[in-house]
Amino acid sequence: MIFVTGGAGFIGSNFVLSWLAQQDESVLNFDKLTYAGNLNNLVTVRDNPQHIFVQGDICDTELLHALFAKHQPRAILHFAAESHVDRSIHGPAAFVTTNVNGTFSLLEAARAYWNGLEGESKADFRFLHVSTDEVYGTLSAEDPPFTETTAYAPNSPYSASKAASDHLVRAYHHTYGMPVLTTNCSNNYGAYHFPEKLIPLIITNARAGKDLPVYGDGQQVRDWLFVTDHCTAIRRVLEAGRPGETYNVGGWNEQTNLSVVHTICDLLDELQPKAAGSYRDQIRHIKDRPGHDRRYAIDARKIERELGWKPAETFETGLRKTVQWYLDNDAWVSDVQSGDYMKWVDLQYSNKE
Ligand code: NAD
Ligand code: DAU
Repeated sequence: MIFVTGGAGFIGSNFVLSWLAQQDESVLNFDKLTYAGNLNNLVTVRDNPQHIFVQGDICDTELLHALFAKHQPRAILHFAAESHVDRSIHGPAAFVTTNVNGTFSLLEAARAYWNGLEGESKADFRFLHVSTDEVYGTLSAEDPPFTETTAYAPNSPYSASKAASDHLVRAYHHTYGMPVLTTNCSNNYGAYHFPEKLIPLIITNARAGKDLPVYGDGQQVRDWLFVTDHCTAIRRVLEAGRPGETYNVGGWNEQTNLSVVHTICDLLDELQPKAAGSYRDQIRHIKDRPGHDRRYAIDARKIERELGWKPAETFETGLRKTVQWYLDNDAWVSDVQSGDYMKWVDLQYSNKE
């Protein structure tokens, strides 16, 4: 079996669902169920005996030891993290706790388990760390995209905590010889994306008749990848990636934020027109994010060349599917917007005109 951390979050749940749909191998899904973890993402595999869900914290090394000993995973895929940049600005402590200390705790438990393996199981074991392009910092309009050798220059508490975790993972290979793999991926979008992030926030606010908040001038650039394409990249790296290597994952799809917001409005105007006017009328430019990175872009040639991976979706097809998914899943949206979500919206968006 494989052991997945953070499998109730956005990317983790997409990964678990596609794994179980394509593969006859069990998944132990280990997740703390923070505000971002949602078992509703996994309802379709609730009764699947190949999906074992355990609620727990990656900082709990003892629990991890016990689970590894009992279930003997052949690989650990580490998605669990605090993932939202704006939350890391309001409260960085949780990011250091989970992303740095939690990754350390997971590495320690994995190292003890891996040390106890023998022969082929030891040689074939993999620890795959899911990371982000944000560790490389920010690009100007003229800079070439990030490669695997771009120097780390993280700018937010989130990206700094992810960079720290990447360094720990790297060190466990260099020092102990642990067979680790790291992926650094660009911005994902798709189903089950928590509506604190740009794309689902714009879709859900637009439909609710609310303002569509664009930070600053909206000319910041992100390189968007449909989430299931990220999942196929991770599978490919797990299958054939060289231990100790890092792989950048991206869709060669740079867009300004304003252009993304316009495209979403246009799709909604087509799929669910308003009684009068366009969704674009709801766009509001608000105060910029402190330390806002201007541009991210991924050079994905290494994973394409070495592992033959390519994205299946274009931004056009992926965004249309995403908007349609939110139109079709009102119950999921209203469930995640209950509870503490509105407190976050108040904290982040009030008095930001
Ligand atoms: P998410 O916030 O949607 O999900 C994170 C999951 O981790 C949640 O289910 C949460 O309950 C769980 N979790 C948090 N703290 C935990 C802990 N201490 N112990 C166990 N579980 C815990 O995040 P996401 O967007 O799905 O991102 C997943 C991973 O991919 C993260 O490591 C993130 O840095 C990375 N990543 C994300 C993107 C993106 O665009 N979303 C892009 C590149 C890389
Ligand atoms: O690049 C990969 C990263 O992408 C991941 O590592 C992070 O986990 C993920 O959250 C994402 O980070 P970003 O900060 O790029 O994503 P977010 O959706 O928060 O913002 C995308 C862009 O949109 C960014 O330039 C900020 C802007 N933005 C965001 C929000 C929430 C707005 O203009 N308005 C908003 O309300």
